[in-house]
Amino acid sequence: MNIAVFASGGGSNFQAIIDAAQRKELAAHLSLLVGNNSKAKAFERARAANIPTLHISPSHFDTEEQYLETLLATLAEHSVDMIILAGYMKMLPPGLVQAFPNRILNIHPSLLPAFGGKGMYGMRIHEAVLAYGAKISGITVHLVDEEYDHGLILCQRPVPVEEGDDAETLAARVLKMEHDTLWRLANGLANGTITVSGKVVSGVSNAL
Ligand code: GRF
Repeated sequence: MNIAVFASGGGSNFQAIIDAAQRKELAAHLSLLVGNNSKAKAFERARAANIPTLHISPSHFDTEEQYLETLLATLAEHSVDMIILAGYMKMLPPGLVQAFPNRILNIHPSLLPAFGGKGMYGMRIHEAVLAYGAKISGITVHLVDEEYDHGLILCQRPVPVEEGDDAETLAARVLKMEHDTLWRLANGLANGTITVSGKVVSGVSNAL
């Protein structure tokens, strides 16, 4: 299984995936990092781990078709079977979603469908959780479809909101859970422990 990770920012989830692969606990090959911001720390992490990179943004192209063609060609060049969105801020072109059915994962730092959707990213999510007075937050790993934070949910894990939390302390607790989860889901899909049939997902607890 060849995996491409898409990341726009710090890439701490990407690093957790790299670390799991280096420990040989993730039985898959990290073939490519795709990012829209060449200054993102995720690129440094890829270079340090000898993972090829693609810096690409829709604004580099005249048409969405050209953007999609380049993305698909590069993924094919690296024989990519699965895509993991790990803090990727751009909407994927529909043609890419269609080319990888049930093979694109996203991680979101709340219990979807709460605190998700367009405009819900970064600290805004944790601020909204706190403003609502929610007592439990958490993480969601889901398949990607053509809407923000909308595809079939594979896994959710709760994280408590503690008294005195601010967005930063809550985000840090949630992020820790993210780091322990995303690569395990990818591994489960790669080795067949996790299966998806229609809307039925099996094997997740065995993969965690
Ligand atoms: C994570 O909280 C992830 O759930 C969200 O974006 C953040 C990325 O963090 N989609 P990092 O770049 O992996 O550190």
